[in-house]
Amino acid sequence: MKDDRAEFEQQARRDAIALGEDEAINRDGLHLLREAGKHRYTYLWSWLGVPIIQVPSDVMAMQEIIWETKPDIIIETGIARGGSAIFLASMLQLLGRGTVVGVDIDIRAHNRDSIESHPLGHRVRLIEGSSTDPDTLAQVIAMIEPGGKVMVILDSDHSYTHVKNELAAYAPLVTEGQFLIVADTGLAIESDNFTPPHGWGNGNDPMAAMDEFLAAGDRFEIDPVYNGKLLMTSSPRGYLRCVR
Ligand SMILES: C[S@@+](CC[C@H](N)C(=O)[O-])C[C@H]1O[C@@H](n2cnc3c(N)ncnc32)[C@H](O)[C@@H]1O
Repeated sequence: MKDDRAEFEQQARRDAIALGEDEAINRDGLHLLREAGKHRYTYLWSWLGVPIIQVPSDVMAMQEIIWETKPDIIIETGIARGGSAIFLASMLQLLGRGTVVGVDIDIRAHNRDSIESHPLGHRVRLIEGSSTDPDTLAQVIAMIEPGGKVMVILDSDHSYTHVKNELAAYAPLVTEGQFLIVADTGLAIESDNFTPPHGWGNGNDPMAAMDEFLAAGDRFEIDPVYNGKLLMTSSPRGYLRCVR
């Protein structure tokens, strides 16, 4: 039998890009997610027993990204109940090395316990504080080993100003070839269910901050394959590859 693995992958890339360009189906995907939001869809899942506040396709995309890019350090701002931190830790465990740095303004004792008592908790370092506080940032930077490959996920306060400040603080830490994920950009498009009590959406959202950030520099590009195939995602266009 002919080895068709490369061909299969090329076809999948082309299909993903074409899917991403199909505006109607992506509009339907986001609409379905908004409707499912009435049932608190993103709160229904867990990873290895710990609640993860994500849409499954986003978790799948992160799995592919981590396996492709093999980061040494994954910095996540906004860890909530810890499921995403444990997910990231489990990917690093499969790689056999690496650390998740989880930053949150409010790490409740029971959530800290879920993470620290988990079999994969040894791969997670927790920092409590606002992600944009200079002291928090200094603690994060101190955990990066020289020469380490750094990936960043911004999933904390989704206001325009906070994400703008996070992008200024954390994007420079991302190393070439790694990803910067700006979560919940979908608030700009389908914010009805998410707006109260924060008032996010209508320009006060991660997409607005991300678009300005992208326009101001050339280190990051919206990856057409990962972004193309998400379909139902919290973070449309939010998967940025560091290209230089
Ligand atoms: C959407 S949840 C994170 C979900 C988590 N990444 C997951 O996938 O399960 C947002 C988190 O951001 C935290 N947060 C809010 N403002 C913050 C800030 N200024 N700095 C750091 N974390 C913040 C909240 O405490 C909350 O736990």
